[in-house]
Order: sequence, then C-alpha cells, then structure tokens
Amino acid sequence: MLRLDRLVKTYKTGDQALKAVELDIPSGQVTALIGPSGAGKSTLIRCINRLVEPTSGKVWLGDTELTALGAGALRRERRRMGMIFQEYALVERLTVMENVLSGRLGYVGFWRSLTRRFPQADVDEAFRLLDRVGLLHMADKRADELSGGQRQRVGICRALIQDPAVLLVDEPTASLDPKTSRQIMRLICELCAERGLAAIINIHDVALAQMFVARVIGLRFGEVVYDGSPDGLTPDKLTEIYGEEDWEATIEKVEDEDDAEAVA
Ligand SMILES: Nc1ncnc2c1ncn2[C@@H]1O[C@H](COP(=O)(O)OP(=O)(O)OP(=O)(O)O)[C@@H](O)[C@H]1O
Ligand SMILES: [Mg+2]
Repeated sequence: MLRLDRLVKTYKTGDQALKAVELDIPSGQVTALIGPSGAGKSTLIRCINRLVEPTSGKVWLGDTELTALGAGALRRERRRMGMIFQEYALVERLTVMENVLSGRLGYVGFWRSLTRRFPQADVDEAFRLLDRVGLLHMADKRADELSGGQRQRVGICRALIQDPAVLLVDEPTASLDPKTSRQIMRLICELCAERGLAAIINIHDVALAQMFVARVIGLRFGEVVYDGSPDGLTPDKLTEIYGEEDWEATIEKVEDEDDAEAVA
C-alpha cells in the first residue's frame, strides 16, 4: 500500500541522504527502520509525506502518487499519514484534549479551527483514544505538565485521530527511559494491530525493534542493506548495517534491564 520507487534525496549541501531506495510496505504491516546516525532514516520518513521534497523517484500511497500532487491535494493526502515525532511537538500551553483534537485540523473547516470548535464526534473519539492509552483522567491537563511517556501517548492519539492509513514514526522513544520506551513501542504496535494500520518506525535501539516488529529494514548511507525478519539480524548483519560495534554488549544490557524490571 506504500511504495517507494527509486527514491532519491540529495540535499543542497550535496549530502546524498537516499540513493534510489525501493520499498514496499503492505497494508497493516509494522516495519522498523534501523541504521546508524545519518543513514537517512528521518529523510526517508519525511520524503513520504513530503515534509522533505524528494530529488527524484516516486512515492505511492495506495493508488495515489504522492510525489505528483499539488499543494491542495497533498494536504488532503497527508490526512492519511499520521506522524509521530521524537520531540512530541505538542503545543505546550494547550490541554491534552486540545492537542489531540489538533490532529483533526486537516478535516475541520477554517473557521471551526480558528475557534477550535470541533464536531462532537471528534471530541468523543478523542476521549476514546485517551482512554485507550490510559490518559483519560488527564484530558484537561496542560501539555507542559506531562511526563515524556505521557506526552508521547498524546502524540500517538493526535496521529490516530486523523484516522490515517499509515503511521510514520520518527524515533518515538529517543527521549524516554528504557521501560517507558518499551511501553510506548508496545502501545504503538498494539494500536496498529487493532486498527490494521501500516507503520514505519525509525528506531535507534535494535533490541527494542526486535522485540516488537515482524520486519526490519536496515539503512546505511542511504541504501537498504537489510530487509527481513528480526531473527535474521545476526551480529554479522548488524555489523554490515552499523559498522563495528559491540552488539553482544548492547543486547546483554537490555536483558539486564528486563531482569531488574522483573525483580522490581
Ligand atoms: N536539512 C538538511 N540539509 C542538509 N543535509 C541534511 C539535512 N537533513 C539531513 N541531512 C543529511 O542527510 C543525511 C541523512 O540524515 P537523516 O537525518 O535522514 O539521518 P538519520 O538516519 O535520521 O540520522 P539520526 O539517526 O541521527 O536521526 C545525513 O548525512 C545528514 O547530514
Ligand atoms: Mg533521524
């Protein structure tokens, strides 16, 4: 349902962030995108909804070629792509409820959005989503009063209230502690399964990706160097993606944390 066809991004600085990336993401599939810093993960995500304009190549969402759309049509298609960021990007002085409802701004008319009067159906759905992520009691809190994990849950609700077909998720756990990171990853993956949503999740932490997704794509220097199951990520493969690093140590560290959690 999401297809990248020889997608290239060369920044003005000459950085070749993506080199003819070919990718097919079927409906409902949750995929983790891993790779070292600078591999092009954020660029790939942003080229899909054209927050970053691709240099060449095509992006298809279902039967629609996103890369061929004018501004108005692109705005409409963006409703079908929910985005979740590392830095949450909430409006600090607005309440949790208002932040969630801002996900509907692509749908409600201009005047309504100015006065922030949303249809009752949107408000009901926002309550349902907040309940689902365990934040119902916080609907009236200001965003700046929340913890990192709570903020990310609000970001998830805001993306889902768009009723998207695909979620684009950029480092959702980068600012969170290990336990909260696992909770957030689990929540995103459960919600995708419940709603039949496809997702691409950029994630630094390989062990975390392996815990939750069925497919992992490894990016290195703007090229796909791995595309397969998490189990196939052998130390050799990981070295190919990341270069020389001590993978055994990384994975042991996560197991230690899990033990500590079990004891606590
Ligand atoms: N706005 C920009 N202008 C110029 N070059 C950029 C820009 N954004 C990214 N790049 C370059 O493109 C390449 C890919 O960057 P990108 O941010 O996509 O990597 P990433 O895999 O998301 O890295 P990280 O894990 O650090 O977030 C890098 O070489 C980066 O320096
Ligand atoms: Mg990035």
